[in-house]
Amino acid sequence: MPIILLWLLSILFVSPIASQPSPSPSPSPHGYLINCGSKIDVEQDGLTYLRDEGYTTTGNITTIKRKDILPILTTLRYFPYGPGKHCYELPVIKGGKFLIRTTYFYGGFDGGNEPPLFDQIIDGTTWTKVNTTEDYKNGLSSYYEIIVIANAKTLDVCLASNENTKAKASSFISSLEVMNLDPSLYNSTDFSKYGLITIARTNFAAEGGIIRFPDDPFNRYWQPFNDKNPTVQAHTKITSSEFWNKPPTNVFHSGSTMSRGKNLTLHWPPFSLPSNRYYVALYFQDNRNTSPYSWRVFTVLIGGKTFYQDLNVSTKGVTVYGTQWPLSGETEIILSPRSDMPVGPTINAGEIYQILPLAGTTHGRDAMALQILKESLKNPPDDWNGDPCLPKGHPWFGIRCYEGDQVRVISLNLTGLSLIGTLPKEMARLTALKELKLSINKLTGPIPDLSPLKALEILLFEMNVSPFKWSSPIFFFIQQNQ
Ligand SMILES: *[C@@H]1O[C@H](CO)[C@@H](O)[C@H](O)[C@H]1NC(C)=O
Ligand SMILES: *[C@@H]1O[C@H](CO)[C@@H](O)[C@H](O)[C@H]1NC(C)=O
Ligand SMILES: *[C@@H]1O[C@H](CO)[C@@H](O)[C@H](O)[C@H]1NC(C)=O
Ligand SMILES: *[C@@H]1O[C@H](CO)[C@@H](O)[C@H](O)[C@H]1NC(C)=O
Ligand SMILES: *[C@@H]1O[C@H](CO)[C@@H](O)[C@H](O)[C@H]1NC(C)=O
Ligand SMILES: *[C@@H]1O[C@H](CO)[C@@H](O)[C@H](O)[C@H]1NC(C)=O
Repeated sequence: MPIILLWLLSILFVSPIASQPSPSPSPSPHGYLINCGSKIDVEQDGLTYLRDEGYTTTGNITTIKRKDILPILTTLRYFPYGPGKHCYELPVIKGGKFLIRTTYFYGGFDGGNEPPLFDQIIDGTTWTKVNTTEDYKNGLSSYYEIIVIANAKTLDVCLASNENTKAKASSFISSLEVMNLDPSLYNSTDFSKYGLITIARTNFAAEGGIIRFPDDPFNRYWQPFNDKNPTVQAHTKITSSEFWNKPPTNVFHSGSTMSRGKNLTLHWPPFSLPSNRYYVALYFQDNRNTSPYSWRVFTVLIGGKTFYQDLNVSTKGVTVYGTQWPLSGETEIILSPRSDMPVGPTINAGEIYQILPLAGTTHGRDAMALQILKESLKNPPDDWNGDPCLPKGHPWFGIRCYEGDQVRVISLNLTGLSLIGTLPKEMARLTALKELKLSINKLTGPIPDLSPLKALEILLFEMNVSPFKWSSPIFFFIQQNQ
C-alpha cells in the first residue's frame, strides 16, 4: 500500500520574503542540492542549490512567476506524458548511504489548477505516488524522503506516470537533495533489501522552527511537535555522536515530560498510519544536572505493546529503536514510570520510517552493457535513463526483460529509430538476449562478436548504413538456430 502523509511531509516553504543571497559561500552537507529547472545556482538558507544541467537529459524547464516563494521553488523541470520514466542520475560512491529528498511546488506551471499525479522511483523501485493536491491548495510545497544505499555508481531518481496521471499531464519536480549519511546511521536496517521512507522526524516540545543543517550535518529536517504535556529544559550538555543515529544536539534543549507517577502519553505521529512495518527510533535524555541520582526509569509502549521495558535514561542520554515494528491507524506512545521513581518520564525526539521492500535492479552485467551501448549511440532513446528493466511497467524503450532470481534483458528491439553510432563489443555481455532487432538504423562499424549470446533466436540488422560489416561467427550461429 502506498503511503503519503503530506500533511506532515510538507513544510512552510512559502514565505513572504524570499531569502537574500548570503554574502559568502558557506559549508554544505555532503551530497547534492539541486534546483531543478534552474539555469543558475541559487542560494537559500545559506546553502547553494546547483542548476540541474548535467544530472538529467530529458524534460523541459519553466519558471513560476511569483514573488512570494522561496528561490528553489521558482523553477521546475517537467516531463511530458508518456510511458517511459524520466530520471536524474547522480554519480555517487557505490555502497554509500543516502537520504534523498524531493520537493514539489506545482505553481500552476502548466496553466491548470490541480497538480498532476505521478509516481516517484528510486533506482528500480517505485517509491511513492506523488500527490501534492492538498498541500498546493493550502499554499504549501511538499517534500518526500527516503534512505537507501547506492548499489551502483549512480543513484537514479525518476518520475513516471501512473494510473492516476491524466492524459497529457506532465510530471514535474522543484528540487532534489541527496545527502550522504554516515554508515552507522540506521544501520540495523538491511539496506540491501529495504529503503526507509520518512513518516516523521520530530523534535518534541520544540522551542523554535525546523532544525536542519548546519545543526544536523546531514540536513535532516526535525519538525517541531508541541502538545499539552509539560516541558523541561536541559541543564547538561550532551554530545550528538554518543547517540545512535546522531540526532542534532539542539533537539535535546527541551523535552516533553509528566509529573511523577503519571504516564506521559504522546499522540505521535499525529495522523493515522497504514498497516505496515516501521523503523522507530526514540531519543531521550534526563535534563537535570548530572548527579548520582540523575536518571529516570520508565517503560516505553508503542501502539499498546511494550517497546522497551524499564529504560534507564541518564543525563548522557540514550537511543532506543525498533527495526520492524508493526503499526496501523492512530498511534500512541506511552512512557510509564517505574513505581519507585521520584521523577516522571521525558522524551526529546523521535523518528519513524516506513519500511519499503526494494524491487531490486537489472542484472549488473546487462545494465553495464546497455550503458555502454547508450554511450556508443549519438541519439539513444530519450528515456534511456535509470534502471533498464525496473520498476515493472517502466523499462527503457525497446527493451523487454525477464524477472526471475535475476532481472535480465531478453529482447532489444530498436527497429527504425534512425540510430547513429556503433555497436560496442560489450553487446556480448547481454547473455540472456533472445531477440536483437536493429533494422532500419544508421549504425556503422563492425558487428561485434555475438557468439556468447547462446540464447539468441532472432537477429535483425538489415537496412543499416555501410560499412556495417559482418565480422563475427554469429552469422553461422544464428543460422543454426533458425
Ligand atoms: C522540450 O524539450 C525538448 C528537448 O528535450 C525540445 O525538443 C522541445 O522543443 C521542448 N519543448 C518545449 C515546449 O520547450
Ligand atoms: C490526491 O489528494 C487529494 C487531496 O488529499 C485527494 O482528494 C485525492 O483523492 C488524491 N488522489 C489520489 C489519486 O489518491
Ligand atoms: C551501528 O552503529 C553503531 C554506532 O556507531 C555501532 O556501535 C554498531 O556496531 C553498528 N552496527 C552494525 C551492525 O554495523
Ligand atoms: C500507564 O500505562 C500503562 C500501560 O498502558 C498502564 O498499565 C498503567 O495503568 C498506566 N498508569 C497510569 C497511572 O495511568
Ligand atoms: C541507571 O543508570 C545509572 C548510571 O547511568 C546508574 O547509576 C543507576 O543505578 C541506574 N539505575 C537503575 C535502576 O538501573
Ligand atoms: C519490434 O520490431 C518490429 C520489427 O521487427 C516492429 O514492427 C515492432 O513494432 C517492434 N515491437 C515493439 C514492441 O517495439
